[in-house]
Amino acid sequence: MAHIIKTNELNKIFTLPNGDSLHVLKNINMVVDQGKLTILRGRSGSGKTTLMNILAALDFASSGEVLFDNVKITQMSERKRCLLRREKIGFIFQSVALIPTMNAYENVEYMLRLAGIRKNRKGLVIEALRMVGLGARIYHMPQELSGGEQQRVAIARAIVHKPKIVFADEPTAELDTNTAIQIMKIFKNLTDKEGVTIVMATHDVGIMEIGDRVYELEDGGFIERE
Ligand SMILES: Nc1ncnc2c1ncn2[C@@H]1O[C@H](COP(=O)(O)OP(=O)(O)O)[C@@H](O)[C@H]1O
Ligand SMILES: [Mg+2]
Repeated sequence: MAHIIKTNELNKIFTLPNGDSLHVLKNINMVVDQGKLTILRGRSGSGKTTLMNILAALDFASSGEVLFDNVKITQMSERKRCLLRREKIGFIFQSVALIPTMNAYENVEYMLRLAGIRKNRKGLVIEALRMVGLGARIYHMPQELSGGEQQRVAIARAIVHKPKIVFADEPTAELDTNTAIQIMKIFKNLTDKEGVTIVMATHDVGIMEIGDRVYELEDGGFIERE
C-alpha cells in the first residue's frame, strides 16, 4: 500500500504567553494510505487541527518529521511548502467559506486559478461538481444552495485541481445528521471510486466506522481501540 504521508515521532509544544508549555502532540507516528479515507478522531481540544496543520505544511512540528511522497516537508523552504499546499493539497473546513458573489462554477474555478492550471478549466470544474452530485447546480449562487450543497461545492473546490491529498477539518460539524451522512457518502465515493486520498478530522464517534484507517487522539497520543 502506497503512503502519501508518513510521520516519524512528531511532537508539538506550544509556549503560552505566561511561559508555560503545552505539549499537544506526543511522538505521533502515522501513515496516510493513497486512495483511502483516514479519520482523525478525538474530542475538542485533543489536537486534531494542530496535527492536520502540520501534515498539510501549514504549521511546523516542534520535533519529528513529516514525509510527503517520501520528501521531508519539515526541511522544505517556505516557497516549496507554499507550492506543495497550492498544487498537491486540497482543504475543506468546518465553515464553508464560499465566495458569496461567485456562483458554484466560479467558486470552483477560482481554485484552478490559484493552482496555476490553465488547461481545460471548464472540463475540470464540471467534472468536480458532477463528482459531488451538483451537476445540476453549476450556476447557482451560494445563497441559493442548502448548507449541504454549499459544503459539496467546497468539496468540489478542494478536489478540482486533482491534489494528491485532501484535508477536511470537521467538515460535517455544522450540518444536521442527514446532511452529514450525505457528505460522508460523498467522501467514501471519492476515495473508493475516484481514487482521492482524504484525511478527515472529527469529534463524532458515529463517523469513525466509515474510515479505512482510524486514529484516535487522546492526551496527545493515539489510543488503541478494539
Ligand atoms: N496557537 C496555539 N497556541 C497555544 N495553544 C494552542 C494553539 N493552537 C492550539 N492550541 C491548544 O492545543 C490544543 C489542541 O488544539 P486543537 O488542535 O485545535 O484541537 P482540536 O482540533 O482537536 O479541537 C488545545 O488545548 C488548544 O487550546
Ligand atoms: Mg479542530
